[in-house]
Amino acid sequence: MSAEVVSTDRPVAVVTGGLRGIGRAIVDELSTNGFRGACVDLIAPGADDVPLPEGFRFYQLDIAAVHDHGSVVDRIVADFGRIDTLVNNAGIAVRPPTDILDVAPEDFDRSLNVNLRGTFFLSQNVARHMVGAQSPHYRSIVSIASMAAHIASYDRAQYAIGKAAVGKITQLFAARLAVDDIHVHEVRPGFIRTPMTAAAAPRIDDLVANSVPLRRWGTPEDVARTVTTLATGLLPYTTGESIWVAGGVTIPQVR
Ligand code: NAI
Repeated sequence: MSAEVVSTDRPVAVVTGGLRGIGRAIVDELSTNGFRGACVDLIAPGADDVPLPEGFRFYQLDIAAVHDHGSVVDRIVADFGRIDTLVNNAGIAVRPPTDILDVAPEDFDRSLNVNLRGTFFLSQNVARHMVGAQSPHYRSIVSIASMAAHIASYDRAQYAIGKAAVGKITQLFAARLAVDDIHVHEVRPGFIRTPMTAAAAPRIDDLVANSVPLRRWGTPEDVARTVTTLATGLLPYTTGESIWVAGGVTIPQVR
């Protein structure tokens, strides 16, 4: 347990995968909007990482190690007093893309252990704290899924299956937590320029030019602003929704 307990007069967020990419942008945007909290990541911050904003602390956790969730969440609650927002952002892609006919069980399990089990059990763990706590702030759980949940990319089946399941996790927790006024949403990003997509950038350039109505990549900040809109309650009387941040790819078109 940490010696110093952080003042709880500002809303407290927990962001998984918060060190890099979309997660880091979410930490920064939440901080800009008055949040404090926890940046959770598999890897420890390196010398090249920009220091976390004021009020945010780092906690190391592999979200696939579900039996470690409890002790990390307990430390965060001890340090900050409570949790108002959980952002389930940590996720892993399929590298290299593999035909659905060739997916190995161990690759399938690793993907689902992070993207599905990690998201489910961390939501469960944090939700238990939330329902037993009082807070003056708007409370929410926001999970980062993917447009892969909708599109049948059969060269990354395990990713698509896990991200589709995030939609059901969202609905289930939204239904269960509504009575406690805790709002649960899913965000579905499209092509976002991050370390995850760097290796596939040339192929994605073509897809963006041909298939994305807004004709540009998304940025981590696009996703972070959407998450912060949800976490600050700017979409009132709304829960269990799936919000696309994908440049209009859901518009049916024949071209
Ligand atoms: P990234 O790979 O650039 O960054 C992911 C961060 O999560 C890293 O800091 C990494 O260390 C951390 N992480 C990975 N596995 C973890 C684990 N088991 N436990 C804790 N932390 C872990 O990824 P990016 O692009 O920022 O993606 C963030 C989320 O957005 C992921 O869930 C991804 O599936 C989703 N997404 C990304 C899209 C994109 O185009 N970049 C599109 C749609 C969804």
